[in-house]
Amino acid sequence: MFKIMTAAALSLALLPTLSMANNAATLKTGEKLYKSACVACHSTGAAGAPKLGNKKAWAPLIARGMDEMMSVALNGKGAMPARGGTKADDETLRAAVEYMVSRAQ
Ligand code: HEC
Repeated sequence: MFKIMTAAALSLALLPTLSMANNAATLKTGEKLYKSACVACHSTGAAGAPKLGNKKAWAPLIARGMDEMMSVALNGKGAMPARGGTKADDETLRAAVEYMVSRAQ
């Protein structure tokens, strides 16, 4: 019993670390959301959206950090709708941001 609980507590403690890792599964989840929603603006740069793969557009955003990017992704800014206009949960949204960041490096 104690062992099981320790294992459960351990895996919970490790979860944030794992979900922050830029692993293939996260990027795949992010790519899926990106292609279903974010692509509408971020593939063309419509309304001033930082375009996917445009290093110059993403560099200053990446420099400001993930927290800032997530805050804009969650709450919206200018023509960027909150959560990109989706009902994606925080984790999936973050995966989409990580996917876009990975394409800008
Ligand atoms: C309706 C068009 C539109 C859609 C759809 C959209 N975006 Fe955006 N996005 C924008 C625009 C415009 C900006 C630039 C906002 C600004 O700086 O004024 C932006 C900026 C961003 C940024 C940069 C935030 C920063 O730090 O300034 C991130 C990250 C982002 N979008 C993520 C997403 C994700 C993830 C999705 C899909 C779930 C998404 N966007 C869907 C228009 C869109």
